[in-house]
Amino acid sequence: MLRFTSRRGPRLALCAVLALFATSAGAQQAILEGERFHPQESRHGMAATSHYLASQIARDVMQDGGNAVDAAVTAGFALAVTQPRSGNIGGGGFMLISDEDSGKVVAIDYREKAPAAAFETMFQNDAGEAVPELSRYTHNASGVPGTVAGLALALDEYGTLSLAEALAPAIDLAENGFALPQRFVEGIEQASERFEQWPASRAKFFKPDGSRYQVGDTYRQPALAATLKRIAEHGPREFYEGETAELIAAEMEKHGGLMTAEDLADYRPAIREPVHGTYRGYDVYAMSPPSSGGAHIVQMLNILEGYDIGAMGFNSARTIHVMAEAMKRAYADRAEYLGDTDFVDVPLAGITSKAYADALREQIDLGRATPSDSIAAGDPLPYESNETTHFSIADDSGLAVSNTYTINFSYGSGIVVDGAGFLLNNEMDDFSAKPGTPNAYGLIGGEANKIEPEKRMLSSMTPTIVKKDGKNVLVTGSPGGSRIITTTLQVVMNVIDHGMNVQSAVSVPRIHHQWLPDEIRIEEGISPDTIGLLESMGHTVSQQAAMGAAQSVLIEDGRFYGGADPRRSTSSALGL
Ligand code: DON
Repeated sequence: MLRFTSRRGPRLALCAVLALFATSAGAQQAILEGERFHPQESRHGMAATSHYLASQIARDVMQDGGNAVDAAVTAGFALAVTQPRSGNIGGGGFMLISDEDSGKVVAIDYREKAPAAAFETMFQNDAGEAVPELSRYTHNASGVPGTVAGLALALDEYGTLSLAEALAPAIDLAENGFALPQRFVEGIEQASERFEQWPASRAKFFKPDGSRYQVGDTYRQPALAATLKRIAEHGPREFYEGETAELIAAEMEKHGGLMTAEDLADYRPAIREPVHGTYRGYDVYAMSPPSSGGAHIVQMLNILEGYDIGAMGFNSARTIHVMAEAMKRAYADRAEYLGDTDFVDVPLAGITSKAYADALREQIDLGRATPSDSIAAGDPLPYESNETTHFSIADDSGLAVSNTYTINFSYGSGIVVDGAGFLLNNEMDDFSAKPGTPNAYGLIGGEANKIEPEKRMLSSMTPTIVKKDGKNVLVTGSPGGSRIITTTLQVVMNVIDHGMNVQSAVSVPRIHHQWLPDEIRIEEGISPDTIGLLESMGHTVSQQAAMGAAQSVLIEDGRFYGGADPRRSTSSALGL
């Protein structure tokens, strides 16, 4: 088994700590052509996460001599406490780890799996229609969680800390509490109707008298603390075979859920090869199936490599046009071909080949939008705004970690496991409940992503690491459902094509096209004359809510730069 050796010793006490708090002020910074303008730097490492407590904890782990994997796993558990809308132990995700010394980039797949008793039509009614309520807000919405096994595997294979050490900050935060920020309080309010239905959810998210927590209140999670302590004491299998597994199985049995103790005992994460592509001399590594992210970011980059994007200009009408044309072709392929490669054949080599990109580029008319229905057909629903979380961490030993994990919607199914204090995911909604029927993100799926026992549902999560000449350069990724792949694409393009510093690269306005619906979705900040030009080419342009939260790290000339996404008020990038 491949093992990265730790090359980090304890840090000298006098080693200066450079704590960088990157905020939306970064959005204002000038974008310079040519040489990048970097507002902040650090010498020994950087952690960018969506919660300042997790960033601090990750920075401290590296400060104390841990490596980037130690920092990532510790931050992953801390986010399960500080940001329960997406940080989790009841969900799953993907982690990419790049080690400059060995030259290897590995992907840890800890995506949830369908229970053994799952079946293709489980979310359809008697008339054969998909019923979204069933795949989103019931006990059957949950896939078998992978986070505890995945983080423990990463630590075991590539870290230096014990699991108990990596869990300690999370346990402390759950037991002794932390002061609630505005975003947390607002999030609970938005999901309160879902929590009202379940006693354990009420107990976790409301005060004992049923009233709401306020900004600044100290928030403690005793049931979650007890669960984390059991895992620290007995190891990761406790979650899958110990008291925690019994609590999950009892919760399922009580509410008619299909997931059993056996499903939990059978769960294993997988180490996979990431998808690899190149873009203008850079090596791009991103998540392989069961995520669609890696396949399609490489496919879109291959198409876009044929244009001089830098000269065409950032978010000019011409640039947005070719991006949208690349995006719709990639998302049409996603719907047809992508699924869990343990179950279906995915033509990955073809999708990511330069020759295929050349053929797709040939179809693109530089002056005119190709209507999506002439690319393929579908019946999409409107988008939903939801939550996942991405973090990027790099250290000066040459390790970089890119991790995206989720419980799907904000607060997943809204169902807390009674006695265990954590939320169940609603990841089963990422399967196609019925071929041709869109999921919550308007994504169409087909045969390749139908529900099958023990299969992993297709994801868009795109943890990505860009290297140049063997060195880690950019660590990025994002939440955002269907927008994840295009968000990550734009961070890569902003750095490589537009020469932006990493804070600008994550802050500037983004666009998105996912084939169906046939529209370019834009954030605030695209100029009206650009929109006019796009419309004159035949595009429908729709301004909607902000997309993604691409916490990123850029490494240049041995210096680390953090990009904390201003789209999340708790985002922070901290260097050492
Ligand atoms: O795996 C996926 O693609 C989705 N479950 C991710 C959901 C998500 O990003 C929600 N957040 N913004």
